[in-house]
Formats: sequence, structure tokens, C-alpha cells
Amino acid sequence: LSRGISTSGYLHSAIKNVTVIGGGLMGSGIAQVAAQVGNDVTLVDVNDGALQKAKSSIQTSIQRVAKKLYKDNPSEGEKFISNSLGKLNFSLNLKDSVKNADLVIEAIVENLETKHNLFSNIDSVASSKTIFASNTSSLSIQDIASVTSRKDRFIGLHFFNPVPVMKLLEVIRTPETSDDTFKKAMEWGKEIGKVTITCKDTPGFVVNRLLVPFMSEAFKMLERGDATAKDIDIAMKLGAGYPMGPFELADYVGHDTTYFILKGWSEKYPDVPQFKPTETLKKLVNEGKLGVKTGEGIYSYKK
Ligand code: 3HC
Repeated sequence: LSRGISTSGYLHSAIKNVTVIGGGLMGSGIAQVAAQVGNDVTLVDVNDGALQKAKSSIQTSIQRVAKKLYKDNPSEGEKFISNSLGKLNFSLNLKDSVKNADLVIEAIVENLETKHNLFSNIDSVASSKTIFASNTSSLSIQDIASVTSRKDRFIGLHFFNPVPVMKLLEVIRTPETSDDTFKKAMEWGKEIGKVTITCKDTPGFVVNRLLVPFMSEAFKMLERGDATAKDIDIAMKLGAGYPMGPFELADYVGHDTTYFILKGWSEKYPDVPQFKPTETLKKLVNEGKLGVKTGEGIYSYKK
């Protein structure tokens, strides 16, 4: 099947029981792709409203996936949907949810202290065999892992939005990550239908290290008045073959996310000029114009 989604029900990877922490856009997508291949998945959040929202966005997205995979066989598509949804559990209880996990993936807010609190809380309750992973888009995996007693079983698994569609998974090992953990993570990545690449534990790994400064440079062009946002977007789509122009992409990713990434990097690496958040970006965030999710960013999405 396209995208490598296995529906045979037989899982090769040692990872079968997956807990995803954080019911936002990324966490929901990760839970969905794991459930689609037959992993037993628990999606955890502290907020019941967030879990309800995750549930409904997963339902909508699985329907889109089924429509694509089974366009000539709707009844198989229905089976795929109900099997996948049947593999998903939603929970507010963090400690219970990690007890039987082979893999725990964190996809919470991009803040080192919050991530440290989370991982120190679950380190003592998860089994010694459990692998911990972070879906951080900008923080160092080694810094996040530092509070746990399982640095050999800690890895970065960085997904892309929309997770069910984007085929890439960046797998990031630290100097302490064991060969066994790395091998299991790579195998699992392939099993969920992703193409895996690996990269050093550097800011933004590969994709965000290139995409975030790309979006930021576009903001600088706009500030200088070099061209309109619309023309810059058209130019990069038709002249460079990008599926979205820099402003469409920035609106899609969310300006708060890009701002937090740049702010974190510029504090850690004050000498890198590309990491300094632009005034336009700060203004959009201050005004709550975060992009598609708030109905307004560089463009308006109000219906
Ligand atoms: N769930 C399931 N399927 C989805 C989906 C979702 N959430 N979103 C889109 N799709 C499917 C659609 O059903 C459609 O399927 P079809 O080809 O069978 O009709 C297909 O994807 C294309 O969708 P659309 O027709 O709605 O729109 P586009 O053709 O414009 O594609 C896009 C949308 C896939 C988002 C494309 O514009 C794209 O690839 N954009 C770039 C996205 C990108 O760069 N993402 C990375 C951001 S950086 C990041 O995530 C890192 C983080 O750390 C910040």
C-alpha cells in the first residue's frame, strides 16, 4: 500500500505499545499513524478538552487517509478506520499510561523545564525497557534526556505537520543513546510508514534548521518592502517547487511555534544573526495572529 502502511496486522518492530504525551496537532498525528499500523496507542493529555479535540481531529484525518488508501474498496476502508480507532485509547492519567509502554513519545509545549518535569515524573514509573522519545522541534535531545536515568534509552523522533501525510521522520541519537535503542527506533519509524533520516543533535536537526531561517528571511524581505507576501509565496512555489510559500508555511506552522523556536535559539546562540526573531513575527504573536489556527496571520482564514 502507498505510504508503506502495513495492514497485515503482523508487526515486525519490537515496539508495539506506544504512549504519546500531548494531545495537540503533533501528538494526535503521531498517535494516529501508530494506531493505523496496529500499535496499541494511548494518547495522554492533562486537559480533557484537548483529548476530545484530538479524538475528533484524528477521526477526520483517518477518514482522509482511508479514502486515499482504499479509494476502490470503501468497505475495506471502513474496516481500516474502525481497526485504527479501536487501537486508540485516550487518558488523563499520565503515570498509568506509561507503565506498559515500549515507547513513550513526548509532544508537549516547547519548554525545557516543562519537558524536564514530565520526564522526571515518568522515569520512575515506566518499565526499565521503555524507550523515551521527544518530538521537540528545536531543543537539544541530550538536554531533555539529562534528567532521566535512561539516557541510553532516550532518542529524538521528530515528525512533520501534517503527520499522517509527511513521510519524513528525523531520528536523533545523542552520544549516550544505545545502538539497540537507535535500531528499534529506526525499525519502528519504517513500520509506521515513514522514511527515516538521522542527524546530529544540533538546533533544528535538518528540516527546521533550514526551514525556520527560510521563513525568517522571508519576513525580512517583507520588512524591507522587497516584494509582497503573496508574490514571495508565488515565487517560491513556482520558482523553487515548494508546496507552500514561506508565509503560507509560517501561517500553517503557527507564528507562536516559530517565535518560540527562534527565541530559544537566539538565547542559546546569540552570535547567529539568522536566529534573531524579526519584528513582524513578534508583532503577529503579540496580536494573537498566530496563523491558520487563529483565523489570521499573514493571511486571513476567516470564513
Ligand atoms: N490528515 C490526512 N490527510 C491529509 C491531511 C491530514 N491532516 N492534510 C492533508 N491530507 C491529504 C489530503 O486528503 C490530500 O489527499 P489526496 O491527495 O488524496 O487528495 C493530500 O493530503 C493533499 O492535501 P490537500 O489537497 O488538502 O492540499 P495540498 O495538496 O495543498 O497539500 C500539504 C497539503 C500536504 C499540507 C502540502 O501543502 C504540503 O506538503 N505543505 C508543506 C508542509 C510542510 O512543509 N510541513 C512541515 C512543516 S515544519 C514541521 O512540521 C516541523 C515542526 O517541528 C515545526
